[in-house]
Formats: sequence, C-alpha cells, structure tokens
Amino acid sequence: MLQKVTLLYFSATKTTQRNLRAIANGMGCPVEEIDFTLPQNRERDVQFGEQDFVLLGSPVYGGVMPLFVREYLAQHVSGNHTGCAVVGVYGNRHYDDCLVEMEDLMTDKGFVVTAAAACIGEHSFSTQIAAGRPDEKDLAWAQDFGRKLAEKLSAGGAVQPLAKGVIPGNRPYKERKPAVPMAPETTNGCIRCGMCAKNCPTGAIDIREPEKADAEKCIRCLACVRLCPLGSKAFVSEAFQNTVAWCLANFKEPRKEPEYYL
Ligand SMILES: Cc1cc2nc3c(=O)[nH]c(=O)nc-3n(C[C@H](O)[C@H](O)[C@H](O)COP(=O)(O)O)c2cc1C
Ligand code: SF4
Ligand code: SF4
Repeated sequence: MLQKVTLLYFSATKTTQRNLRAIANGMGCPVEEIDFTLPQNRERDVQFGEQDFVLLGSPVYGGVMPLFVREYLAQHVSGNHTGCAVVGVYGNRHYDDCLVEMEDLMTDKGFVVTAAAACIGEHSFSTQIAAGRPDEKDLAWAQDFGRKLAEKLSAGGAVQPLAKGVIPGNRPYKERKPAVPMAPETTNGCIRCGMCAKNCPTGAIDIREPEKADAEKCIRCLACVRLCPLGSKAFVSEAFQNTVAWCLANFKEPRKEPEYYL
C-alpha cells in the first residue's frame, strides 16, 4: 500500500477538491492536502521526493490550466522522480489541452506522470451547466479510478510514466486569450462580513471595502458569488450574461462522462 497520497490543487468552487478527495478515498491510503487556491498558500516552495505520490488537480479554464496555476507550479513546486497523476476538472464543454499541459509541466518539474483523469464539475458560470456535479455517479467513478490507480502502483518498482500520446490533447496548447476585465457587482444587502474577500483566489476584493472588486485581478472563478451568504454578489454586465447564455445554449447537453488514462 502507498504510504501517503498528497492532493495538490486549486479549486475556487470546490468541484476539483471533491473529485480529488473521492479519488484519494478509492486509493485507500493516508491523505495529505495542499490546497493552493488562496494567494497566501501560493507563496512557499514545495518539494517532493521519490517516496511521495502527488494527485494534482486543476479546473480547466479555456481548454488549458488557469495561468496562475501554471505559474505557481512552475515557480514553487518540484519533484524528484515523484509519482504523479494529473486531474483536470471541466464544466461539461471539454478539457481540450489541459491534461497534456499538466502532463508536460509536471514532467518538466521532476514528476513521473503515470495516470490522468478528466472529471466533471458544475460550471462556474452557471449552476445549470453540469448541475450538481460531481454527483454520486461521478464520485463512485472517481473512487473506482482511485482503486485502479492504487492497484497499478502496488505492482512495486519505479513508477512508470504514461507513454507520450496516451493522454488526449494538442501541442501547442490552446492559446490563452486575454480576458476582458470584469468584476462582480455588490448589491445593497452586503453586510461586510468579508467572506468573499477572504475566499477570493486572487485577492481582487478589498476586505475593508468588500463592495469593490478589482476587474484587472478578477479571474471570474465565481467563488465570491457562490459563497456570499446573502446573495449580494453577482456578475451583471451584458458581456458576462451573453457568455453565460452562449454556454447554456451550447454546453448544457449532452452530459459528459469522466475519463481516465492509466
Ligand atoms: C474562466 C473559466 C473558464 C472555463 N473554461 C472551461 C472550459 O474551457 N471548458 C469547460 O468545460 N469548462 C470550463 N470552465 C468551467 C470549470 O472548468 C468548471 O466549472 C470546474 O468544475 C471549476 O472547478 P472548481 O470548482 O474546482 O473551481 C471554466 C470556468 C471558468 C471560471
Ligand atoms: S460575502 Fe456578501 S455580504 Fe459578505 S462582504 Fe462579501 S458581498 Fe458582502
Ligand atoms: S472577485 Fe473574481 S476572482 Fe475574486 S472570488 Fe470573485 S469571481 Fe473570483
């Protein structure tokens, strides 16, 4: 049995976290978590050794990893022949090149990528796209993937990398297009509890004036909108509403299922 698995993840609306925890549950070994969602958790360097095993989780943003997730991993995380599985979580459209980008980056950083999975999470932009996912079926699937991964690792010897080309995706990866600056609005109901500011992954909300959000820093992760206990935060701009309407028209159906590469 593995001594331990480390979950290393960014998860603004917690669907990546839930998928990863279910996989780890299926692996049946002790679990450690490094959640680098908040800015204060992206400051220190993290090094892994040959005995470690890392489950890296990232949401898919625009078919690739969110840029600052990539930058954090590139700058602060390193392995030394460390076994790793990469998990991309997407909102029922597609994961495009995210998994191969994760595979390449982790390999460059000293990890041996031995498995990959594309899982589904409710779309950050709308609770109607992939609503409630990961659901029970997804979580059972994730546990089963965890069991299969543990079986593969229990064979002993050095962890073997997946052959190049097994994980679907294109190189070069999908281009990251510059986002139009946008931030959530705050309605009069705000009681300045500070919950949105404390949970913003980019520090875009000023804790002293949580009604304001910096559009240049905001990544539209929707964490603040989902978390506000009074429903006081919302993206109301026409541009955002048009994006959501387009996503609803194109990605609500058919239901996508998770996939693994082992
Ligand atoms: C800026 C942004 C871009 C996104 N791009 C994609 C995408 O390309 N394909 C997709 O299926 N889902 C996309 N999504 C949806 C997320 O991948 C999905 O909701 C994921 O479950 C969020 O993970 P989290 O709950 O761990 O934050 C995007 C979400 C955001 C905020
Ligand atoms: S979470 Fe809601 S109520 Fe609390 S400070 Fe933020 S906007 Fe205001
Ligand atoms: S302000 Fe933007 S980046 Fe911060 S939690 Fe809200 S949506 Fe996410």
